[in-house]
Amino acid sequence: AYYMHSAYETALHSHRTGDGYADVNWDDLRFSLTPTDYMYSMKYSKDGGFSQGELIRYGNIELSPSAGVLNYAQGLYEGLKAYRKANGNGFLLFRPELNAQRMQIGADRMCMPSLAVDQFVHAVKQTVVANKRWVPPPGKGSLYIRPLLFGSGPILGLAPAPEYTFLIYTSPVGNYFKEGLAPINLIVAELTHRAAPGGAGCVKTIANYAPVLKAQTQAKEKGFTDVLFLDSVKNKYLEEASSCNIFILKDNVISTPITNGTILEGVTRRSVIEIARELGYQVEERLVSVDDLAVADEVFCTGTAVVVAPVNTITYNDQRYTYTCGEETVTNTIYKSLTAIQMGLVEDRKGWTVDI
Ligand code: COI
Repeated sequence: AYYMHSAYETALHSHRTGDGYADVNWDDLRFSLTPTDYMYSMKYSKDGGFSQGELIRYGNIELSPSAGVLNYAQGLYEGLKAYRKANGNGFLLFRPELNAQRMQIGADRMCMPSLAVDQFVHAVKQTVVANKRWVPPPGKGSLYIRPLLFGSGPILGLAPAPEYTFLIYTSPVGNYFKEGLAPINLIVAELTHRAAPGGAGCVKTIANYAPVLKAQTQAKEKGFTDVLFLDSVKNKYLEEASSCNIFILKDNVISTPITNGTILEGVTRRSVIEIARELGYQVEERLVSVDDLAVADEVFCTGTAVVVAPVNTITYNDQRYTYTCGEETVTNTIYKSLTAIQMGLVEDRKGWTVDI
């Protein structure tokens, strides 16, 4: 009874809600879950491969207690956003094929089957259309899209699960940090590490996220916004914060930690590197030491959820370093350039956005 038969029916459904918008206080959006109407589901079995995907009503799923994901964290997630175009004509995705490719690489690392890029992007588009009344008005936020791929089949001994589920759900969101667009305050984690060489730090496995919760919770208790992790070998080189990549600016040169297997290959990270170079900045992907924090002029974090977040202070070893923030910063120039493309406010000369 819950299966949708066509995007047309979905469109009809949201048409009936009047102005085409769900009943949400759009001025109050934060990065929290607002359940939407539909989710996309696809199953994989060894014999049948991936099933035909379908849109089903958003809701709880049934899972075996011995599902691979519950017992051995065999799972990946992705994150991307849809923005409502300012002219009211449809929606924009930002480089969804990069999420699809990253999921393929992650699936290989976690011994899971994965979707073709086209299948992934098609599924994302269908999910956005089905939930279109939940895409915030222009300027109020975006529809966050969360694809999941996980071992849903039962397994007791440690081995790849016999079945997999690909799911996409969505939620309208606003700014990620409680600070909104205001600068954030980070603390360097000196005892906890996020990833190790040879591990899975560079892919978006769900297993990378629960282990940072303790450091994140302790940091929040002390009033910090987020934690910045160092490499696990030398405890000296910056890796990333718990939810985003990091950049520093010194004498107009932008640097970001090189992705050598322990750092997440962020779509926003990659896009910011390209945008900054086009704006004329020198951008270096290199080992960035904690010592660089003492002399940096500006610091910012990037991610799909955080977008480009200016950093006000970083605390390391009881030292607190403060950085330039505000309208006249390189950080703000990059934020504006990136979001103008994502929101469709400028012509997309790179072909990064996908119309829905
Ligand atoms: C994203 O930026 O989309 C992420 O996946 C980070 C997550 C912690 C919200």
